[in-house]
Amino acid sequence: MKKSFSVEYNQFNHWSELEKADQSLVESANEVMENAYAPYSKFSVGAAAILSNGEIVKGSNQENIAYPSGLCAERVALFYAGANFPNEAIKTLCIVAKGDLVPKETILSPCGSCRQVMVESEKRQNKPYRIILVSQNGSAIVFNSAVDLLPLAFGV
Ligand code: THU
Repeated sequence: MKKSFSVEYNQFNHWSELEKADQSLVESANEVMENAYAPYSKFSVGAAAILSNGEIVKGSNQENIAYPSGLCAERVALFYAGANFPNEAIKTLCIVAKGDLVPKETILSPCGSCRQVMVESEKRQNKPYRIILVSQNGSAIVFNSAVDLLPLAFGV
């Protein structure tokens, strides 16, 4: 039996075309991106999530000379949310990046480990959350669920 996955998402030429609340989230992600500690990759990433109580939690990538000890921006933000606001659902997560590691027109797409964490945080809150991904050129795509970025995630 042949089966397939399909994912719907919205595409924007520039994030300034997003609704106001989403624009603010992009701005928050851009702000916290400046706090990235990325002396090794020289690639800065910012992640900002708005919670059901209106709180915005933010994270940036934090590297370490023992490379695997560092952590991606998304997981810094998501684990901070889990640690400090365990009962507030995430409504939207926005991710931005800056650096030469990927072409300017490439949408910042989270790594596999972050996707796994995103899927579980979604399962934990029993409600999908939106994900806004932005390129360095400013183009953006919006997904409706973390599962859309990682079908068949491990264990969930
Ligand atoms: N990085 C993130 O923070 N998020 C991603 O989605 C991809 C990669 C970080 C990890 C590392 O500090 C740098 O970007 C280069 O991989």
